[in-house]
Amino acid sequence: MDFYYLKGSNYTPLDSPGLRILGVTVMGMITISVGLAVGLVVFRKWRERTWGWCTCSTDMTGKVVVVTGGNSGIGKETARGLAARGAIVVMGCRDARKAQEAIADIRKTVSTGDLVFLELDLSSVDSIRVFVSRLLTKFKRVDVLINNAGVYYPPQDPPVTTTEGLEIHFAVNHLGHFLLTHLLTDVLVATPQSRIVVVSSELYKSGHLDVDDLFKSARDGRSSSRQPLYNNSKLANLLHARQLHKNLSGRGVLVCALSPGFVYTGLFRHALRQYSWIKRFAFLPVAYFFMKTTAQGAQTSIHCACSSKVMAAASSSSGPPYYSHCRQAALLPVALNDEAAASLWEASLRLLRL
Ligand SMILES: NC(=O)c1ccc[n+]([C@@H]2O[C@H](COP(=O)([O-])OP(=O)(O)OC[C@H]3O[C@@H](n4cnc5c(N)ncnc54)[C@H](OP(=O)(O)O)[C@@H]3O)[C@@H](O)[C@H]2O)c1
Repeated sequence: MDFYYLKGSNYTPLDSPGLRILGVTVMGMITISVGLAVGLVVFRKWRERTWGWCTCSTDMTGKVVVVTGGNSGIGKETARGLAARGAIVVMGCRDARKAQEAIADIRKTVSTGDLVFLELDLSSVDSIRVFVSRLLTKFKRVDVLINNAGVYYPPQDPPVTTTEGLEIHFAVNHLGHFLLTHLLTDVLVATPQSRIVVVSSELYKSGHLDVDDLFKSARDGRSSSRQPLYNNSKLANLLHARQLHKNLSGRGVLVCALSPGFVYTGLFRHALRQYSWIKRFAFLPVAYFFMKTTAQGAQTSIHCACSSKVMAAASSSSGPPYYSHCRQAALLPVALNDEAAASLWEASLRLLRL
């Protein structure tokens, strides 16, 4: 390789060993960077193949599907996927403006089905009751209930609580959905072949629930750098699904649970605020190469809402089937504990004075 510099009016070849080494180094770095980028893209594509995509084309026309937290992230893409299959999707959201924006966005790509916004704040018992009463005034059936909404806060001292004084993860992620499901049980039973889909997370694995003192975990969580309260609530989701499956077996309501995987959504917005912009910037490659898009993240929820394979799995299983990447997966013993599921059920009824 020849290098030139301008000397007077003549070009003279530069042949110094230093410049040669520099040239080889630059070429080497470019080659390595391009190779790395190509490798990462191939790696990403390979991962995408393992994540699965719901290919089920069930016609959901006329079916009423309730999606909590349907205005963003996984919930919004679930609503889009089910409206595309013809469903009437009731989006239970706490913010009317966000819900209307989500509906407008879905309508850019999907013209079928119906999208209905009904206000729902899962941290408020009154709001949940009003939501159910409005829903049942409007519709006489609920074919699928998707307990999707969720919150994720960083550990705080004191922990974030609802206006009713309940620890926020437990209140929104578990107890609000517990009440909603309880109030919709009769209509779900009355609707042929209905389903309850519980959106949990793989983080349930490090969850722990002391049902004798449900708020002990809130106190224990104060000084922890990890996120036990969210994890506990996701374990509660699975134990709730387990008891629901038991209580509803033989009554025509399928119950299943799922983990959507690691998905790039707004879920972590409260947690990310505690990091500097440099750390958040450094996180971007992780997000790009390891996290699902919201459309990819919604596939397991859509699969659970409409696949006939899920119906078959639920009827032959002793507990609610659990799905990850659109495939049935095994749960750890902590989520298979019948005694814990029954105690959580009783404790939740007591907390809600039901
Ligand atoms: N993202 C992941 O990697 C991941 C992994 C495993 C499990 N999950 C689960 O997936 C579900 C959906 O989360 P996402 O990732 O899609 O996050 P997201 O984009 O933040 O969506 C969460 C939804 O829940 C709603 N919500 C929060 N508090 C609520 C309340 N009090 N009442 C009613 N709705 C409320 C939010 O409404 P606002 O917009 O008004 O806040 C939002 O629509 C959650 O259950 C989460 O635990 C997510």
